[in-house]
Amino acid sequence: MSGEILVIGAANTDLTTYVDRIPEGGETIHGNNFTTGFGGKGANQAVAAKRAGATVALIAGLGADIFGENTKSHLETEGIDTSGIFYGKQPSGVAHIWVDAKGENRIIIVPGANLELTEEFISNAVLKSVNLSIVIAQCELPQEFAIAAFKSAKKKGAITILNPAPAVKLSAELISLSDWIIPNQIEFNSLSSEIHGGDLIEQIKIFHPDKNLLVTLGSDGAILRTNQGEIIKVTAPKTEVIDTTGAGDGFVGAFAAALSAGKELRTALEFAIKFATNSVSKKGAQSSYPTDLKII
Ligand code: RIB
Repeated sequence: MSGEILVIGAANTDLTTYVDRIPEGGETIHGNNFTTGFGGKGANQAVAAKRAGATVALIAGLGADIFGENTKSHLETEGIDTSGIFYGKQPSGVAHIWVDAKGENRIIIVPGANLELTEEFISNAVLKSVNLSIVIAQCELPQEFAIAAFKSAKKKGAITILNPAPAVKLSAELISLSDWIIPNQIEFNSLSSEIHGGDLIEQIKIFHPDKNLLVTLGSDGAILRTNQGEIIKVTAPKTEVIDTTGAGDGFVGAFAAALSAGKELRTALEFAIKFATNSVSKKGAQSSYPTDLKII
């Protein structure tokens, strides 16, 4: 199935503070470290898929500022097709991130110019794509953007992957256009809140059974359920956790790269878990993705 992976989503600059513990309201404390890095769920997934060996294009919005300039040249250095970058009037997107001693984060995003993308711009960019195999979207930007992308993806015969992050109530139209839904456990709990009773596996079996579903479980690995009802569970290798920021995005990008390369589902799942696990022992989002772990 090898072809291009097109990602629609935010490109942000991550402003990250590392701190022993998260301050209480009204409290001032000292942080240990501050970093500026490349982030945004869309850009993270694009970079992960590219580093995993796929051919990748990104549709995102940037502002005419230094963050936008740096992001564009970084994406080009990574080898990502940036012809789908839209320049808006607002500043480039930023994410303020706090990472505590356990590697857990709290994130506030200000999407800025990413929100100035339009459905028309996105549809045209998807339709223009040559040799398209997979289109990926998340929920950091309005669902209408993902719907426009997925409608055009269907016209091109591409597979659609929805990463419903951060957790929001999904429209029935977006679900119906998604071939794969890849939430983490918190997002899955929120999406499946109407399913009462049963353990996680039971809920995974029942949730939109006509879709392929992949629930990531952090250090516990992930559970995949196909639209034929097959279940594959893979555990994650143990590793030191420094910063989990962008690990889920790394997983999605690496999984898509493996699917695009025509790998079996279990192989794709094992690869994505290895890729994401590798990333949590390093700081940052894109800065933590391995460059020596290829699926192709
Ligand atoms: O998933 C992690 C990402 O969420 C960060 O890179 C940040 O930019 C926010 O979009």
